[in-house]
Amino acid sequence: MPKRIFNIFRGNEAEGEYHAYETEISDGMVVLDALRHIQAESAPDLAVRWNCKAGKCGSCGAEVNGKPMLLCMTRVSSMSKDKIITVSPMKAFPVIKDLVNDVSWNYEQNKKIAPFKPKEGTVWKMKQADVERVQEFRKCIECNLCQNVCHVLRTHKKFNEFVGPRHFVRVASLDMHPLDTADRIPFLKEKAGIGYCNITKCCTAVCPEEINITDNAIIPLKERVADRFYDPILLFLRSLRKIFQSAK
Ligand code: SF4
Ligand code: F3S
Ligand code: FES
Repeated sequence: MPKRIFNIFRGNEAEGEYHAYETEISDGMVVLDALRHIQAESAPDLAVRWNCKAGKCGSCGAEVNGKPMLLCMTRVSSMSKDKIITVSPMKAFPVIKDLVNDVSWNYEQNKKIAPFKPKEGTVWKMKQADVERVQEFRKCIECNLCQNVCHVLRTHKKFNEFVGPRHFVRVASLDMHPLDTADRIPFLKEKAGIGYCNITKCCTAVCPEEINITDNAIIPLKERVADRFYDPILLFLRSLRKIFQSAK
């Protein structure tokens, strides 16, 4: 069987270096299979996080030849035959060990989002078009690859001001639900930092679930923020309403 060399990051947030490992490759093998062979053959302490091996749990996000990918869905045969395959942890988040990142920051952001809130006495009926619209967002497997690649987090480190594309997807899934009544628009502007997104679409490009993050989630949410806070006609009508109310 042919062999391939994998250059794998070994270390933690403070220090580390790349080590080369060679292993045999069989037909259909994915990068995660190769890493498990390397664990069995020569690096039993190599840390890699995975669960489902089916692209559905979102645990195995890493960077293969510099590109954010799921290790369990990336075929070794899709990589150029003459090149060493480099495997690194995600760059945007701290490294616990080897290929395992600390992604707990993402779960803290998730807690800031107001949950689904139906109005009292809701009749639980929805149009099929509305079901389908939010269904796209519910495909998210929380792999954090979109978070990892977004320059606002990866390069500019706006972890205190920006929640990232994965959380805009979650807000969209709630805000576009026809039976929901919670108001998340001030949150999007003030706390979630949606204004930092300049629509580079890198998040959409790496999503393994092919969610159209930018066009279907972020842009409609940006429009809702703009309507609420910046639409001159609505601002004028609101100020008129205030004047009439104070005159009563
Ligand atoms: Fe992963 Fe896509 Fe969800 Fe982002 S939106 S966390 S890339 S599945
Ligand atoms: Fe970042 Fe996606 Fe916007 S990559 S800048 S959240 S379009
Ligand atoms: Fe579950 Fe890769 S192991 S997505």
